[in-house]
Amino acid sequence: MTTNPSTTGAASPLAPEWLQVPADLNALHEGLWAGGVARNKAGELAIDGITVSELQRQFGTPLFVMSENDFRARARAFSDAFNDAFADICGGVDVYYAGKSFLCTAVVRWVEEEGLRLDTASGGELAVAARAGIPGPDVALHGNNKSDGEIHRALDLKLGRIVVDSLAELERVAKIADARGETAKVMLRLTPGVHAHTHEFIATAHEDQKFGLSMAGDSTDQAGLSAAEEAVAAASGYPGIELLGLHCHIGSQIFEPDGFALAAEKLLDFLAAMQTKYSIVLPELDLGGGYGIAYTPVDTPRPAAEIAQAMAAVVRTKCAELGISSPRISIEPGRAIVGSTTFTLYEVGTLKTVRVDAPAPGDAGAPGESVTYPRRYVSVDGGMSDNPRPVLYDADYSAILASRTSEAAPQLSRVVGKHCESGDIVVRDVYLPEDVAAGDLLAVPGTGAYCWALSSNYNYLARPGVVAVRDGSARLIVRGETEEDLLNRDMGV
Ligand SMILES: Cc1ncc(COP(=O)(O)O)c(C=O)c1O
Repeated sequence: MTTNPSTTGAASPLAPEWLQVPADLNALHEGLWAGGVARNKAGELAIDGITVSELQRQFGTPLFVMSENDFRARARAFSDAFNDAFADICGGVDVYYAGKSFLCTAVVRWVEEEGLRLDTASGGELAVAARAGIPGPDVALHGNNKSDGEIHRALDLKLGRIVVDSLAELERVAKIADARGETAKVMLRLTPGVHAHTHEFIATAHEDQKFGLSMAGDSTDQAGLSAAEEAVAAASGYPGIELLGLHCHIGSQIFEPDGFALAAEKLLDFLAAMQTKYSIVLPELDLGGGYGIAYTPVDTPRPAAEIAQAMAAVVRTKCAELGISSPRISIEPGRAIVGSTTFTLYEVGTLKTVRVDAPAPGDAGAPGESVTYPRRYVSVDGGMSDNPRPVLYDADYSAILASRTSEAAPQLSRVVGKHCESGDIVVRDVYLPEDVAAGDLLAVPGTGAYCWALSSNYNYLARPGVVAVRDGSARLIVRGETEEDLLNRDMGV
């Protein structure tokens, strides 16, 4: 075995194939960062001119740093792209921001001010919506296991739609609404059997998973009827239900429009069949969310306009073929609006370099000989408690040295957290300057969606705060937890 210490600066055989050694370690890769994020003259990362060291001084680390202008711009861009593409098909599109990706009252207000609606998935998310004061008719409620309390709350708030996930739930919503002397506005969530090309746990429209009413003919007790058809037929018999239409969500972090298009075709086929068979005209169709974003330099999501045009073309053609007028279309993007608006700021602590065996590439040793290569572990002051996505989904991220620039050689690094798990990885593989040291600040872009929202108190770490930066001023929109918060719920008995 040969030891090869001279791998800094060169591509490491330990790196995954997709990871290139950056030509300039100090450069910000376009597409990963929110508008307004740049290095200042001194080389420090800043957002709207506010430096990361100033953010750390005011708010501490770890910290989620979000650009409000960028959030608003992405919300508008998504809404404009889909409204333009569908204008002549169904008069436009209703865009429901998927609050599960990141939710707080400030964000609800931005969403409303930018003309979007809100998609929620629990009573807690409804409580945030209510506190923010968004009108109930602009809010949807999802969930595969809604409680009676959540259904009552949806009716109390006069929600625009309850997205019903099962036959049993349809019956429950009908009973509750009826008992209140009210009518619930309902969409039915169907599983069109489209398998999105994404991680198994974020693909949601194939058969073998928990969500939605199956469109397959043999999945119900009533011979020949799918659960989806049974629900449509049953809904029309419940006085407490106003059936608005159909819904599907095929998964998340999807780059190609084909899956969305196929799902739209299947749901339109089904919608037309219901019209023919039962004379039930369903005026609305929701095609869910799932539009992908860039987490690393090799991710190349399509612009919203391209996806919107592709989906509009399919809906236009399919409706013409079926001889029906298009239902009003709605979508539920979360990640594509909030994901890239935010970076997480961490302080570097302990550093450790290990040497790992790998087959000798080309001329780096005798044939068949293995060589050891360095991998450096860079520990930061957060981890899987503020971003569990790498552990949950093998998600890749990237990171840069944020508090300064460096001319040191690139070294293959793994950014890890401070939790008691060896799987506590924040960025699995990234080239960072070899002089990164304790006290430096690292920034990880693309952490706006499903990071704070999925955060935990593992190891009694306090969940970080979220700062929104707008036009050169920074304010906390969610304060970080304190040790007192953590201890408050411990009853001590
Ligand atoms: C029903 C539904 N709609 C919308 C979304 C938002 O997905 P994304 O954030 O990937 O756009 C999700 C995510 O899980 C979902 O389950």
